[in-house]
This record gives sequence, C-alpha cells and structure tokens, in this order.
Amino acid sequence: MINMKLSFVNALFINLVFLTSYVAYADEKGKELYMKNCVVCHADDGSGLMPGVADLTGKKAWLALDKNVLSLQIKKGIQNESGISMPAKGGNPNLSDDEIDKIIEFMRHEFAK
Ligand code: HEC
Repeated sequence: MINMKLSFVNALFINLVFLTSYVAYADEKGKELYMKNCVVCHADDGSGLMPGVADLTGKKAWLALDKNVLSLQIKKGIQNESGISMPAKGGNPNLSDDEIDKIIEFMRHEFAK
C-alpha cells in the first residue's frame, strides 16, 4: 500500500519534470525563432526598434487576439499605407505554422508582463 502511494507520487513528479522541461523547450525554440526573424524590427524586449513598429509589450490588444487570428496576421503581414509595413512572416517565407505558434507562445510569455 505504501509502495503504491510512493509510486503514484513518483509518477506525478516525473510528469511534472517532463512537462516543465517541455514548456521550457517550446519557449527556447520560440525565442530562437523570434531572435532570427522578428527582433530586427521588434527589439529583444518587444518594445519596437523604430517609430511605427507596434509596441508588443504590456497588455496590448494583440495579446487578446485568438491565437489563430494572430497567426494569420503574422503570416499575411501588415500593410500600412502611411508608415512601416510588416512583411509576411517577418520576411521569412520558410517559417512553418508550428514555428509561428512557438513564436506566439514565446511573445505571450515574455511580453505580456
Ligand atoms: C521589417 C520589420 C518587421 C519585422 C521583421 C517583423 N515585424 Fe511585426 N510589425 C512590424 C510593424 C511595422 C508593425 C506595425 C504595423 C502597423 O500596425 O501598422 C508590426 C506589428 C506586429 C504585431 C502587432 C499586430 C497587432 O495586431 O497589433 C505583431 C504581433 C507582430 N508584428 C509580430 C511579428 C512577428 C512574430 C515577427 C517575426 C516572425 C515580426 N512581427 C517581424 C514590423 C516588423
């Protein structure tokens, strides 16, 4: 009986370790992709490097967007007549849906503070 309880606790613990390392992994990957494809305009803290680039920090409207809507917006880019436009996929046509999702997770986690 005691053994059963112990192995249950063990299993819980192992799951927790697995889950945390997976989340850390997804975040690392998202960060890496962000640094490659987005940082030139959005800066490493998401605040935007030049006037006209959206400030992605804090509780901004884009954070409330559904993940799929946001993903589509990043894929299409943002055409701005009067200012700087954002190129589709940040200018990297090779970014996959999965990679864009990872970038979104990273941004939500890092910039939403
Ligand atoms: C060439 C510069 C440039 C690059 C590279 C770039 N962006 Fe942008 N981004 C912009 C500009 C400019 C805007 C603001 C456009 C506007 O609102 O008119 C913007 C806006 C955004 C927004 C805000 C959308 C909203 O609804 O307010 C998000 C989210 C975003 N970019 C994500 C990304 C991601 C993710 C990448 C990398 C894959 C990326 N951007 C790469 C220039 C860039």
